[in-house]
Amino acid sequence: MSAELILAPGSAGRLGECVDVFRGSSIWEHYFAEGGRLLNSLTKALERGELWLALTHNSSVAGVMRVVPRGFCGLYDYLSLIGSAPSARGMGAGRFLMGEFERMARERGCLRTSLMVSDFNAGAIGFYDSLGYWRLGTIPSAVKPGIAEHVLLKDL
Ligand SMILES: CC(C)(COP(=O)(O)OP(=O)(O)OC[C@H]1O[C@@H](n2cnc3c(N)ncnc32)[C@H](O)[C@@H]1OP(=O)(O)O)[C@@H](O)C(=O)NCCC(=O)NCCS
Repeated sequence: MSAELILAPGSAGRLGECVDVFRGSSIWEHYFAEGGRLLNSLTKALERGELWLALTHNSSVAGVMRVVPRGFCGLYDYLSLIGSAPSARGMGAGRFLMGEFERMARERGCLRTSLMVSDFNAGAIGFYDSLGYWRLGTIPSAVKPGIAEHVLLKDL
């Protein structure tokens, strides 16, 4: 599937579809189930030019990511959020977006990329492992009390 995907900037009209990408996932249950927190975050990302979509040939949203340029200590691009649409999981949309994330970072001259993943999210940890990310350390209760976040880096 990934060969057919194209990268596009996020747009206001597609924010609802972006929210739906995460509905029912473990991060939805832990972080976004209450009210419009995810929508607020995606809206902010859009305003800052940080929201990116993986679109299929018929223009449906296969995946979404938020990239903060130099968001890690002013050094490395930071992946704040990524998700594949439930119907697209396991078909390469996540790998496609990670490839685009790393391409943008290289073009900006970053030596590494960075992200955090929650301790409960075994699927995403396996995903990042398969893409060559290594664990710098773990921050207890980084975002929400009781949930640790692993800080992952990739050498580009
Ligand atoms: C994590 C997530 C983005 C992966 O996206 P995806 O489109 O399903 O992943 P891909 O199909 O591109 O898989 C890429 C590689 O990761 C591996 N992978 C994917 N999910 C995995 C899992 N649950 N466990 C282990 N490895 C996994 C695949 O085997 C694949 O490797 P391969 O190409 O060598 O076979 C997706 O599962 C998702 O949206 N999860 C819900 C939201 C979330 O938790 N986001 C991450 C935290 S912000």
